Amino acid sequence: MMNSPWGGSSIDGSTVTFAHTGFVYPGGVRALDGVDITIRSGDFTAVMGANGGGKSTMLKLLVGLLHPSEGRVSVDDVEVGHDTFNQVAAMVGYLFQDPNDQLFCPTVAADIAYGPENLGLGGAEVERRVEWSAKTCGVFELLDRPIHALSYGQKKRVALAGVLAMGPRALVLDEPSSSLDPMAEAALMRLLKGLNERGLTVIMATHDVDLIPLYAHRIILLRGGHVAAEGPLAEVFAEGTHLEGCDLRLPRIAYLFDIFCDESTRPLTVGQARKELVRMVEQGRLDLVPILLPKERGGAA
Ligand SMILES: Nc1ncnc2c1ncn2[C@@H]1O[C@H](COP(=O)(O)OP(=O)(O)OP(=O)(O)O)[C@@H](O)[C@H]1O
Ligand SMILES: [Mg+2]
Repeated sequence: MMNSPWGGSSIDGSTVTFAHTGFVYPGGVRALDGVDITIRSGDFTAVMGANGGGKSTMLKLLVGLLHPSEGRVSVDDVEVGHDTFNQVAAMVGYLFQDPNDQLFCPTVAADIAYGPENLGLGGAEVERRVEWSAKTCGVFELLDRPIHALSYGQKKRVALAGVLAMGPRALVLDEPSSSLDPMAEAALMRLLKGLNERGLTVIMATHDVDLIPLYAHRIILLRGGHVAAEGPLAEVFAEGTHLEGCDLRLPRIAYLFDIFCDESTRPLTVGQARKELVRMVEQGRLDLVPILLPKERGGAA
């Protein structure tokens, strides 16, 4: 990490505050309503909830791509707004849900260099950051490639490299692991965990309930633009009723405990649990199908 954009030292993570924040899209869709939340320096927070719950909208407000219809959003003591867009961009790195919305330079190298160049850094420092970020995200071999000649997952990695190269104090990621292969996903999560342990604030929208308990400390659950629950992961997941209206299930292991605590047969091995689940699905418990199936890995979200 010595050559990283933050140097070898700890990272001074930003604090993010939503104060009575609401947002209505032109056309009248209310996507967010009365959000009051503080995400502290060094937190690793997962933003979760059903499709259309308001996750992407909340993250876009945080980085000033959208502006609140009511209330405000601040990063440290800077209110996010038209006048402070560049100031916020220097503090907060934002990874779009779709990398096609993020990448616009002709080549991979130019795209990763764009952010650090805009920070006014010198050529040697920009080069050093591009190299570190490209290696860290596994796209060093692609540096000379045109963006349009990349796969979707490769684009996602390049987009992340560009964000890291800025050396942000908070990282805001909209479903970063969707469409990454399993090795890339594991590497990404390890990287985020390492940076978070050095102090970086990490805010990540995700549907992956099995992955998130391994990394996030806190969770914000959005339902219809409202905060349905917020707090330490264990507390939010302990209250199962929170999850229902958000189209979430418990993490796989907790879900299994939940299912079998009501059953007369208690499986003693993973194999037995699987057989028992198959039997229950055959008897009509179709709600159990998702935990039997391997995890979905889609393309564009
Ligand atoms: N550009 C837009 N114009 C109008 N309405 C929008 C626009 N983008 C999103 N919405 C609406 O705002 C609400 C919140 O959408 P948002 O994209 O924030 O949800 P999300 O939680 O990120 O969903 P997903 O899990 O599908 O990514 C939805 O009702 C959506 O239809
Ligand atoms: Mg979204």
